[in-house]
Amino acid sequence: MVVFENKAILKLLLVCLFVQFSFSAANFFRPFNVTYDHRALIIDGKRRMLISGGIHYPRATPQMWPDLIAKSKEGGADVIESYTFWNGHEPVRGQYNFEGRFDLVKFVKLVGDNGLYFLLRIGPYVCAEWNFGGFPVWLRDIPGIEFRTDNEPFKREMQRFVTKIVDLMREEKLFSWQGGPIILLQIENEYGNMEGSYGQKGKEYVKWAANMALGLGAGVPWVMCKQTDAPGDIIDTCNNYYCDGYKPNSPSKPTIWTENWDGWYTSWGGRLPHRPVEDLAFAVARFFQRGGSLMNYYMYFGGTNFGRTSGGPFYITSYDYDAPIDEYGLRSEPKWGHLKDLHAAIKLCERALVAADSPQYMKLGPRQEAHIYWENTQSTVLNTTLSESQSACSAFLANIDEHNTVTVTFRGKSYSLPPWSVSILPDCSNVAFNTAKVGAQTSVKLVENALSPKISAPELIITKNEVSSISESWMSVKEPIGIWSESNFTVQGLLEHLKVTKDESDYLWHMTRIYVSDDDVAFWEENKVSPTLVIDSMRDVLRIFINGELMGSVSGHWVKVVQPVQFQQGYSDLMLLSQTVGLQVGLKGEFQKIFTIEENEKAGWTNLKLDATPSTFTWYKAYFDSPDGSEPIAIDLGSMGKGQAWVNDHHIGRYWNLTAPKDGCPDSCDYRGTYGSNKCMTNCGKPTQTWYHVPRSWLQASNNLLVIFEEIGGNPFEISVKLRVPRILCAQMSKSYYPPLREWLHLDLIDGKVSISDMKPQIHLQCEDGQIISSIEFASYGTPHGSCQNFSKGNCHSPNSLSVVSEACVGRNSCSVEVSNSGFGSDPCRGVLKTLAVEARCVSTSTIGVSQF
Ligand code: GAL
Repeated sequence: MVVFENKAILKLLLVCLFVQFSFSAANFFRPFNVTYDHRALIIDGKRRMLISGGIHYPRATPQMWPDLIAKSKEGGADVIESYTFWNGHEPVRGQYNFEGRFDLVKFVKLVGDNGLYFLLRIGPYVCAEWNFGGFPVWLRDIPGIEFRTDNEPFKREMQRFVTKIVDLMREEKLFSWQGGPIILLQIENEYGNMEGSYGQKGKEYVKWAANMALGLGAGVPWVMCKQTDAPGDIIDTCNNYYCDGYKPNSPSKPTIWTENWDGWYTSWGGRLPHRPVEDLAFAVARFFQRGGSLMNYYMYFGGTNFGRTSGGPFYITSYDYDAPIDEYGLRSEPKWGHLKDLHAAIKLCERALVAADSPQYMKLGPRQEAHIYWENTQSTVLNTTLSESQSACSAFLANIDEHNTVTVTFRGKSYSLPPWSVSILPDCSNVAFNTAKVGAQTSVKLVENALSPKISAPELIITKNEVSSISESWMSVKEPIGIWSESNFTVQGLLEHLKVTKDESDYLWHMTRIYVSDDDVAFWEENKVSPTLVIDSMRDVLRIFINGELMGSVSGHWVKVVQPVQFQQGYSDLMLLSQTVGLQVGLKGEFQKIFTIEENEKAGWTNLKLDATPSTFTWYKAYFDSPDGSEPIAIDLGSMGKGQAWVNDHHIGRYWNLTAPKDGCPDSCDYRGTYGSNKCMTNCGKPTQTWYHVPRSWLQASNNLLVIFEEIGGNPFEISVKLRVPRILCAQMSKSYYPPLREWLHLDLIDGKVSISDMKPQIHLQCEDGQIISSIEFASYGTPHGSCQNFSKGNCHSPNSLSVVSEACVGRNSCSVEVSNSGFGSDPCRGVLKTLAVEARCVSTSTIGVSQF
């Protein structure tokens, strides 16, 4: 919330608001209506096939939004999707926050500015691995409340928030019929999973939620996901890894996929999930093949759970999700590029896809099938060749066999289909794309140490502003163990954590005094037993202290605590610190806000000696300068134990140095066959998260305040600032590679005419914005071996390889090179299938500029 401290600031803000308003008053689109039929959403009178990308606005900074939206658009998205986050927007009942990362209006407007549509999933229960599923914790305190059921107090609160959002969107003219980008809304979230457990009241609640939503006059359709009994006009939608064949509950509703899980989330101590892009593309192609009309990637950009926003139990601060755009806002290749090609291929089919009421089905083999979309259904033409005047025809050929490449015959031509793949034929004849053939570049991102660039990147020159070593200037202050203020209170028994903290802190101290008599001690000694603290059930973390000394720690989700403790004769203080990880109270340092620029000096910091031993419950602070350039920044907290970190008053999140199990990560990931989140794990035996994103916009050139609260003990001297640098690009393509898809995009499909006779395969390399290709590390047109960072020449190699590729690429942000004999001057080995493999290096232009001094 903005607090107006004096009139001058207020005036300034009003001026800014006015300027902002006058810019954004323009419509993004000509006002248009959104309706639907059984086939698709109908936008401004036309059915559309839509690709949507999920971006949760508070998981990035407003400064990152424009680039994320632009990259989504470039990747082929038509729509941006987000939940709303009730507890972020209404942290205190009746006090709203639509500022900063929660500036929903600004985010939706930016999407509209880019010519993209918006799918707003209001919830307000959203799940999303977000704290408390999006519910404000104060909701628990409403008398008589029962969540997500036919309960008046709950319904009242839910309606109030949903109305608030719809009204805000309408006031800001953000609905389609107002010329805004919002085309679709969602109420509730996957309630179908829960409904049964609420009996009749659950059914009543679904009806109420639907009517309430429809009654708000938003003027665009509503969806309910995983809600097979979605009433009336509300479209029930699918959330899953695969949604082909999904049928909504009425023949008049279109097939919509609100969550295509393109990766998965991670817990502290967990492995990192990956969904192979070949399988993801297969799932998307199958969806559109079998009649789907709108698909949303959950997530297209996952981002970061800044502050204490991550849900629980035990979800990590990163919400990278293995999404096409990574946590830092960089393209994750080859995922981003392969999906871009897929989207382009689907777009080439759009005319036929929307024209046909349903596809024609053709069995091509035991596990092979085709779906054909005709502009005018002409069953008779199936076995004939289209003449130019005939209507548009697009086809999808699928091989669902997980093991074998199969050659099928379709309309008189044969097609080789790799296992578990779909070929897309926008003209029913030529293959524009196959989901298992990745033509996109791969990109290797290095995490480079901004403090000592020589360590990980000898060729990287940071001549200016080598960041001063934060390791020489740490200060610390101890957090008191136990009760530290007068604001404590006495009760009988233990109180529930959230009831007391109201989620303003992860931490809650409980203290009691225990008297141990001589007889007790004698009894324990005689019977060789020691007293044990037993707690039947607790979550998430508990630390047990006697007289200020740590006796033990337990973590888990509703686990029993059995902790032997030692008492001496007389009075002892038993102190329990309960903690949520996902959900004064709290700590003294938190209360005093010693992590802020304004308040930190008030704590009794002392200089930390280099040989200081790791210390529990300690606050640390240091200052650091920003590395030059535009590359994203992370703080490496791998040397620390568990706690929280702030940079310049921004809470960058919780950290916890827990290591993933040693096993369960395959040597290589086989994309074939049904995906599940355990299938292609990586990072076994390594800490789940050590790098924590610090958005550039939170930093100034120098003197950035880093404050850490450490619970267990760690070495702050080893904390370092890292750059996340996309450095290496690789691409590999054989001469026989089809399709040269990008060329198709220039063709006019209006008459259903496509000719690919002149097209040659090309490789495309693209560095991140602000970078150029500095060198070609490897290039071979011939029969190269190996894979990215490990290429070698084969028997056949064109001597021009390096010079041709260097000439086309060096000094440019992106380039294309034709994979052909003519491109390389001559044929280096007749009769042999040739491949071009390239490895390129990218550098940031600012680095180059600086190094020229
Ligand atoms: C879905 C849910 C999403 C998210 C996802 C897993 O079931 O609707 O909000 O939690 O699972 O990432």
